[in-house]
Amino acid sequence: MTSQVLREARKYEEASEKTIVEDVRPAFHLSARTGWMNDPNGLSYYGGQYHLFYQYHPYDCHWGPMHWGHAVSDNLLRWEYLPAALAPDELYDRDGCFSGSALTLPDGRHLLMYTGVIREQQLNGTMLETQAQCLAVGDGIDYEKYENNPVITAGDLPEGSSPHDFRDPKMWQKEDGTYRCVVGNCTSDGSGQILLFGSRDGFSWTFRKVLMSNHDRFGKMWECPDFFPLGDKWVLLTSPQDMLPSGFEYHNGNGTLCLIGDFDQETETFTEQHDQAVDYGIDFYAPQTFLTPDGRRVMIGWMQNWDTCDFRSQKITWFGQMSLPRELWVENGRLYQRPVRELEDLRKNKVAYEDLSFSGTISLDEVKGRMVDMEVTIRPEEGRELYRKFAIRFAQNEQFQTSLSFHPRDSILKIDRKFSGSRRAIIHQRRSLVNSGDGSLKLRIILDRLSAEIFVNDGEQVLSAIVYTEQAADGISFFADGVVHMDVVKYDLYMDA
Ligand code: FRU
Repeated sequence: MTSQVLREARKYEEASEKTIVEDVRPAFHLSARTGWMNDPNGLSYYGGQYHLFYQYHPYDCHWGPMHWGHAVSDNLLRWEYLPAALAPDELYDRDGCFSGSALTLPDGRHLLMYTGVIREQQLNGTMLETQAQCLAVGDGIDYEKYENNPVITAGDLPEGSSPHDFRDPKMWQKEDGTYRCVVGNCTSDGSGQILLFGSRDGFSWTFRKVLMSNHDRFGKMWECPDFFPLGDKWVLLTSPQDMLPSGFEYHNGNGTLCLIGDFDQETETFTEQHDQAVDYGIDFYAPQTFLTPDGRRVMIGWMQNWDTCDFRSQKITWFGQMSLPRELWVENGRLYQRPVRELEDLRKNKVAYEDLSFSGTISLDEVKGRMVDMEVTIRPEEGRELYRKFAIRFAQNEQFQTSLSFHPRDSILKIDRKFSGSRRAIIHQRRSLVNSGDGSLKLRIILDRLSAEIFVNDGEQVLSAIVYTEQAADGISFFADGVVHMDVVKYDLYMDA
């Protein structure tokens, strides 16, 4: 039975969506159907389609009481909205259905696990949140909350763990048919930890162990954990709040952390070997992964940063979009990412330039656009002094531009979106240390109307950023201080390709 609260949200989103002009939205990145979107939730393949749920406040383009929005896709790029799946309509989740995950039960039903939030006034007048894990079961459209909710509560926590920051369960099924989930949490002194729970049937859960403790190394509370095997390693992803930068890693305050290591399945012990940021741009948070039917580990993040949400303009009635779905793998102890291969099916109008030698500013025939997949490879000229700077400017006209600039001497790649339509004094630049021994660099740039994602050196690093530049600014130009040799392969991306 759908509740009144959910029925109203469904009615509202259907009417409100019609007032949004389609071509101001990203084309192949999922954006909020209406109102506000944050984290991806319940990423799964169910009933022959990809399902992507999301943190959703349909009534306003600011964060508010969390619902779960819902969309499905055949190719992870062309999304179709379904009615909102969850609303905060029970005593145990009346202040929000926070992030969570999905899996398919042996009887074919779709199981969602999410965090139910209640907020209570304390004697001193302040409000305090309590968070617990809840279930809902459905058919891919309608979901019924489980009668014994919540299924993991404060009572299940190990000593010294806070029930106020206890959220974002990510479930998976093991080969033996039993289930595990990781949940973000922090100790009472505010340092993040990831808790592991187990279940025989997906409904009744018990605490197993603290999988990983932060000990105040990476930020504070650890949100949105995910834990999975990748090649012969295991990967723990989490989004720590309040991180301090360290060298060229972790510049985003609320950032994304990837720990790569070994996992002893007998003792359920994770041994960390490497740490890195997941994204080196400005906007990326709370990613979640899942396995496609053909065995790829695909990750989608919220392409936004909590600290830069004021980038939004006055006029919009929707806010928030997801990153590209990215295939993951581990190479030399690093997490690599590339856009899902389905993106190649959207390519049209190939333009290629080989070994262009240039200095100063140039633009190239037919190299422009705001829905673009472009590969650029640069190298210095042999026997000549190393060039001093290379830059690509895009979403460009007389007034606007977003730039990627590279200084080969210190190997720094910088994204700068200062001139991207923002009227706010927030962070618009991010510098990232990239691998380039001799001034050679390979970039794959994906533009989708209101965003840029830059895959560096075949996926070794990714920089993601939102832009709000008007669509008429569709120029692309290249700049070199010194002599640069460059190959460019550029495609337009079409949704009906
Ligand atoms: C991360 C987060 C999650 C929480 C959700 C609430 O962005 O803070 O921890 O479940 O957003 O919308």
